[in-house]
Amino acid sequence: MHDNLLRTAVVVWLYALPLPLMAAGDAARGEQIHQSCLSCHGTELYVPPRAKVKSLSALGREVQKWNDRYNPKFSKQEVDDLVAYLNRDFYRFR
Ligand code: HEC
Repeated sequence: MHDNLLRTAVVVWLYALPLPLMAAGDAARGEQIHQSCLSCHGTELYVPPRAKVKSLSALGREVQKWNDRYNPKFSKQEVDDLVAYLNRDFYRFR
């Protein structure tokens, strides 16, 4: 009986664990990746009065738009990392 409980707990844990890892970008990794964005503009673009992006989804689209010009492109995960970094340090959308 305890065995079953434990097994259930492990199964629940295994399913629950990857979700936040996949859904959320890693801001620390995003900060490193962002080095390659600095050839055109600095981070002053991300704060008022310059910042034009007004929502998290718009930020995602904006980063994806820049990513489309890169060759090779960043992966989906790296785009998420970039968005997480920009949002953590500059935009702060919730
Ligand atoms: C080829 C030059 C270039 C590169 C490379 C580039 N950007 Fe940009 N970026 C721009 C220009 C130009 C704008 C628009 C500036 C404006 O509207 O005042 C912009 C705007 C943005 C904005 C919108 C800022 C706002 O709130 O108005 C974001 C976010 C952004 N870039 C992120 C990135 C990221 C992340 C990367 C790296 C993956 C990147 N950019 C690489 C040129 C570049």
